Amino acid sequence: MPLVPMRTLLDHAAENGYGLAAFNVNNMEQIQAIMLAAKETDSPVIIQASRGARKYTNDAYLRHLMLAAAELYPAIPIAMHLDHGNSFDTCMSAIEQNFTSVMIDGSLQEDGKSPADLAYNVAVTKKVVDAAHARGITVEGELGCLGGIEDGHGAGLTGDEAMKHLTDPNQAGEFVAATGVDALAVAIGTSHGAYKFSKPPTGAVLRMDVILEIHKRLPNCHMVMHGSSAVPQDLKAKINQFGGKLKPSWGVPVEEVQLGIRNGVRKINVDTDNRLAITAAIREVFAVTPEKFDPRDYLGPAREGMKAICVDRMVAFGQAGHAGQIKPVTCKQMIAFYAK
Ligand code: G3H
Ligand code: 13P
Ligand code: ZN
Repeated sequence: MPLVPMRTLLDHAAENGYGLAAFNVNNMEQIQAIMLAAKETDSPVIIQASRGARKYTNDAYLRHLMLAAAELYPAIPIAMHLDHGNSFDTCMSAIEQNFTSVMIDGSLQEDGKSPADLAYNVAVTKKVVDAAHARGITVEGELGCLGGIEDGHGAGLTGDEAMKHLTDPNQAGEFVAATGVDALAVAIGTSHGAYKFSKPPTGAVLRMDVILEIHKRLPNCHMVMHGSSAVPQDLKAKINQFGGKLKPSWGVPVEEVQLGIRNGVRKINVDTDNRLAITAAIREVFAVTPEKFDPRDYLGPAREGMKAICVDRMVAFGQAGHAGQIKPVTCKQMIAFYAK
């Protein structure tokens, strides 16, 4: 089936009480890993690419790889999403490249670093929503700023500074109504990358209460959790066993994501866990069989390692078993939906 608008998947997830992992990709093996996991678990799929991923991969390669996935797996609905779009132009360029969903991250200014004020966020998000919905494309907005920094994107906020930029539940209703976003990314103390928390997180730093409060006020709002990798200790240990130098850190426990899913979270962004799985597999091959030099000998195990993470998250978030139930809707059909 053609790539589907993400809104279709979010609505189905809300109606059936599950969450969808949104996995970041930068190359063919990552797309293959996700699709293998989706096939094995009968899961609908959200694949997302950041600006950095688009630059690294090149839009043309990415577009054709995604079309290949849709062709090879006609029974699995796949949404192609832009992660952390920094401007109207970036979002429009993604739509031209076949993305069926875009994130406009108006919580930061166009530089992708400086926190923006609410008026700027509402204005840029609404501009993207108007243009995207006219084409049947889904839009995710963000209120509040995530901590950390990834590939040049992010305000780099840590500690108390990060806590000052959490999503304010009092602003959520106004933001969603004023912009018309399909999904709302919330800042609840998580950050991108492997160094989220210095010890297993408590409710003081991982503010799930913000999600519960927004869900109470906006029960129909599809929320998005960013920076939601679990940072598995066994993968970090394996990386370090085979020559890596990762420092101690903790991620977002899967049970906390599941609590979010019971309270309106429909999309969960996962990148770091897959990066760790890939690195662990490659380091092991290099350390145990240093005579190997065929990329298939280490990219194959890397793909398997990522697939295992994807299967695990698809089952844990509840999307497994739902692919076959989703009636494919095209972006063209969504134009009429938004016009109402
Ligand atoms: O936005 C966060 C994702 O992990 C993507 O990271 O910008 O390094 O591709 P990236
Ligand atoms: P992680 O770094 O926790 O995987 O988060 C990814 C993310 O939020 C992408 O937008
Ligand atoms: Zn993110």
